[in-house]
Amino acid sequence: KKKVFVETLLAKMTLMEKIGQLNLPSAGDFTTGQAQSSNIGKKIEDGLVGGLFNIKGAEKIRAVQKVAVEKSRLKIPLIFGMDVIHGYETNFPIPLGLAASWDMNLIQQSARVAANEAASDGISWTFSPMTDISREPRWGRISEGSGEDPYLGSEIAKAMIYGYQGKDLSAKNTILACVKHFALYGAGEAGRDYNTVDMSRLRMFNEYFPPYKAAVDAGVGTVMASFNEVDGIPATGNKWLQTDVLRNMWGFKGFVVSDYTGINEMINHGMGDLQQVSALALNAGVDMDMVGEGFLTTLKKSLEEGKVSQAAIDEATRRILEAKYDLGLFENPYQYGDPKWAAKEVYSMENRNIARNTAAQSMVLLKNDKQILPLKARGTIAVIGPLVNNSLNMAGTWSVGAKHANSVSLMKGLQDNFGKQVKFISAKGANIDYSEKLENIYAAHGKLTDRDNRSKEVLLKEAVDIANKVDVIILAIGESAEMSGESSSRTHIDIPQSQVDLLNELKKTGKPITMVLFTGRPLALTNVKDVPDAILNVWFSGTEAGNAISDVLFGKINPSGKLPVTFPRSLGQVPLYYNHKNTGRPLSPEKTEKCQYERFKSNFMDECNTPLYPFGFGLSYTQFKYNDMSVSNSDLKGNQTLQASVTVTNSGNFDGAEVVQLYIRDLVGSITRPVKELKGFQKVFLKKGESQKVTFNITPEDLKFYNNSLIYDWESGDFEVMIGTNSDEVQRTEITWNK
Ligand code: IFM
Repeated sequence: KKKVFVETLLAKMTLMEKIGQLNLPSAGDFTTGQAQSSNIGKKIEDGLVGGLFNIKGAEKIRAVQKVAVEKSRLKIPLIFGMDVIHGYETNFPIPLGLAASWDMNLIQQSARVAANEAASDGISWTFSPMTDISREPRWGRISEGSGEDPYLGSEIAKAMIYGYQGKDLSAKNTILACVKHFALYGAGEAGRDYNTVDMSRLRMFNEYFPPYKAAVDAGVGTVMASFNEVDGIPATGNKWLQTDVLRNMWGFKGFVVSDYTGINEMINHGMGDLQQVSALALNAGVDMDMVGEGFLTTLKKSLEEGKVSQAAIDEATRRILEAKYDLGLFENPYQYGDPKWAAKEVYSMENRNIARNTAAQSMVLLKNDKQILPLKARGTIAVIGPLVNNSLNMAGTWSVGAKHANSVSLMKGLQDNFGKQVKFISAKGANIDYSEKLENIYAAHGKLTDRDNRSKEVLLKEAVDIANKVDVIILAIGESAEMSGESSSRTHIDIPQSQVDLLNELKKTGKPITMVLFTGRPLALTNVKDVPDAILNVWFSGTEAGNAISDVLFGKINPSGKLPVTFPRSLGQVPLYYNHKNTGRPLSPEKTEKCQYERFKSNFMDECNTPLYPFGFGLSYTQFKYNDMSVSNSDLKGNQTLQASVTVTNSGNFDGAEVVQLYIRDLVGSITRPVKELKGFQKVFLKKGESQKVTFNITPEDLKFYNNSLIYDWESGDFEVMIGTNSDEVQRTEITWNK
């Protein structure tokens, strides 16, 4: 039915109407790139627009759709896109924070809520999930992905796509997902955004491609090409990537959209003029042109000159029409965007409660000396720091649909939830940064509007004065929201000095300090980690941030988040990731642990090899003990299944959840293999005193990798199976597995 419908429509279309379907202008309600689109209304009437994005509101979207389906010759409905990255108006934690929950049900549910809200308000397409693996804390957009691990990243990609697209894309509350940015966008040199990527194919296939492929396997409807080059050709014009790998190897059937002016930017990459780069993109397999209008303005000429084929234009048009058909837009162009539904759905209490719980589950407890947390709800508490009374910074980067002023600030959350039992007094203590120039740069999107012009001494004194009057200090410091995100690369990945000085001054009061860390990237916390008594990493946890942080600080929720990315000791260690290779001159485990330098070994003279906090790390208010690791068989053959188990006991004083992690090392291979790779995890909830045997089923599928000929298979030999509470603290057993 779909085929017949689409082919019949295609047969009626003029060349320019076809090219029009490939055109995606921005309506300009938000700024997510530099160029602006113009004359959109007229172009829609003329059938020269396939979709529109950066527009918000059911009424508005319906009005635009009306133009398309009533005034254009063929009445083809538009598809409406938006960066619904971590929620729509109800914002969830930034994706790196969501990943820290290691809870696939919650992540899927967050995408479901986002889809419900967005669909009710007229959006049928989200530019999410971003599945770019990154080992680069300098890169601001590390905040938007799932961290450094291909396995965890793949699981999250699937969960998000199921959440957005549901089982039936034509239902009114399911929307098209878009996996991005294909490919390798997280690996730009020095972490500078949009920068060059140069990587071996082995590394691409084994370490960076898996989440994109998992998204394709999960049925993602669209793919966004990345800005960077891959193998010397920009991804947007890279046929090997967009056709050979994506379509021919992986069987992707949907459409590929460029990133914002990504086609035009190939001129700067040095690939030719607008006509040349537009033809290059189409021929590579890009179907839709975001904002740049290279397709709209040059494809006709390229066809006449034989630089692109009619078949290629038809194929791109067909893919976009099919997606619209799948969404049910031809049947009912107005099914997305119902003001009455939106009024009930968007930012509903129910959605906010889900966001609040999700936010709490994403927080990672990095330190809790003398069990200072959870705090007792009594007495007077000083709440200090530039992020205390700051609702505008709670939702985090790429929350374009959010109404930031509505987000719950930390102070509001504390007052609303514990204001009856506790007297909270607050002071700013410091600006985000000493440098006003830098603060202005960090203030992108107007989210940091409250620079305090008093001198640093006055700010500090005010903070110290109130600290002297209280029993306990909550200190909220770190990054402001737009210090991470697109085009927010940093060469210093520590907390700005203004806030470090504040921490050190408060330390002198002798009062216990709980540091609430806001961040969109792994920070180097070496210079601060010993000062506070507790550190709770809350990322940017969304519109419910203040409520969720209060829930965790006072023990309504026991934190269970685990880092989805390594936190280095210093920038000089970067890239630092748990699944590294061994090298020919590894430092011994003993010396690694003690941070002892050894000459002619792979290490640093002035820094340890180990991170400050390893991948998978996160504490709880309770303690979990791991005992009796066992395997069902240590000598396996062929397609058997191995059971690897461990008993986990909650030996502390609180009920809580633990993410039990399974790692495998392939000890000998035809190519060098990582020292460990995550192959499974289970989040288990244990009441205090309770024990549970946690079992992982392992099959040869879990041992596969791409070999030097890019053949995906496993190899006979010895393997180490590891289970533990993070990538560093594991129990180990060796097994042999032959074909
Ligand atoms: O979806 C985004 C992308 O991640 C970065 N450039 C702009 C796009 C649309 O807003």
